[in-house]
Amino acid sequence: MAEFTRRQLLAAGAGVSALTLLPSCSKDAGQTQTGEKKVEVFSWWSGPGEQEGLDALIAEYKKQNPGVEFQNAAVAGGSGTQARQVLASRLLGKQPPDSYQLHAGLEAADDIKADRLEDITYLYEANGWKSKFPAGLVDKLTVGGKIYAVPVNIHRSNLMWFVPSKLKEWGLTPAKTWSELLTQAEALKAKNVNILSIGAPWTQQHLLENVLLGELGVDKYNGLWDGKTDWKSADVTKALETFKKVLSFSAVGTDDWQPTLDKVLAGSAAYHVMGDWAAGYLQGAKALKYKTGYDVVASPGSTGVYNFLADSFTLPKGAPHKAQAEAWLKLCASPEGQDLFNPKKGSVPARLDSDKSKYTDYLDWALKEWQNQSTKVVGSLVHGVVANNAFKAEIEKAYGVFVQDKDSAKFSGAVATAYGANK
Ligand code: GAL
Repeated sequence: MAEFTRRQLLAAGAGVSALTLLPSCSKDAGQTQTGEKKVEVFSWWSGPGEQEGLDALIAEYKKQNPGVEFQNAAVAGGSGTQARQVLASRLLGKQPPDSYQLHAGLEAADDIKADRLEDITYLYEANGWKSKFPAGLVDKLTVGGKIYAVPVNIHRSNLMWFVPSKLKEWGLTPAKTWSELLTQAEALKAKNVNILSIGAPWTQQHLLENVLLGELGVDKYNGLWDGKTDWKSADVTKALETFKKVLSFSAVGTDDWQPTLDKVLAGSAAYHVMGDWAAGYLQGAKALKYKTGYDVVASPGSTGVYNFLADSFTLPKGAPHKAQAEAWLKLCASPEGQDLFNPKKGSVPARLDSDKSKYTDYLDWALKEWQNQSTKVVGSLVHGVVANNAFKAEIEKAYGVFVQDKDSAKFSGAVATAYGANK
């Protein structure tokens, strides 16, 4: 189910419909179910490098919708760990925001199946969006032929960030494989430098998915999510052993990704494996220049692979300000919205027709990689693409034990069982 090809993901949507009539519920833009002129948007973009992109969208929304109060309901915490808990209790209490962030893929499918979201196919049809987004991406927001969210970007998970002058000082070039990285780790240890800076559990699992990708390769990595790769196989065990060694040479803390990345900037660790929201932070909050102040390569063993995720916005069932939420979704889907948001967020546009000139420095490379015919696209575990919420929660639980007892066989056994129970 999780498997897909790059061609499927990048091809423009088929069966494009010309502009059709606007749906009736859009006629009363400015009116609301409650009569209030307001929109509440829920996300986890409140930290440096995340907030700037959201702020750009909010400013544009206010311009396009004068008189509508914008309530930014962002809940702090990288990868949405805290936000998702808050959201779950709001949805349970039947107090949905007007729109909330989720990831394309099995994370979205769970909310669709739980009947939390409105079918917004009518917005796709009315605005001609089907041909404007990669068909394979829209598929990851579709269940039973109905589309339930709007993708605002494409992020890449499998990246390794560093400071070029520091690597030079240590006589290193970016490691291309995990075993090369471990050799570098030994050399750096003598200099009292950690090979990686790692933070809160989600950042550790982010690293784990990319060690699995680099060690197993694309086919076997995909097989972890569609049952073709046995979690208990020797290959997976070997990759887990590599992961453990990497951890043992790393500075493992509990911080979120920004302070964890700061340790690389300060020179106490060589690299940080993180998604390209790091580019938004490094270029924005940290005002560093690509290639001189910071640089980035694909994480070891994953050159030519795009481990993707896509942030998307929804129209929850029972949203109190539906017309204003629709205006938000239209902005998120528009070329203007995407080109305001993504250059600041460190992501490439989900739309196929964005203004390429807006994507410079790291993002120029990212866009070329994303659009390169030979790039292989796989999906992220931590960021909602390849595992449903129940399976992901089981992996997180098993990981909590693994990081204590370091028992690879026990971990892979638990994950294999969880896969069987949740597929
Ligand atoms: C991801 C999200 C990104 C970024 C990251 C760190 O899950 O898709 O947009 O926010 O978390 O918080």
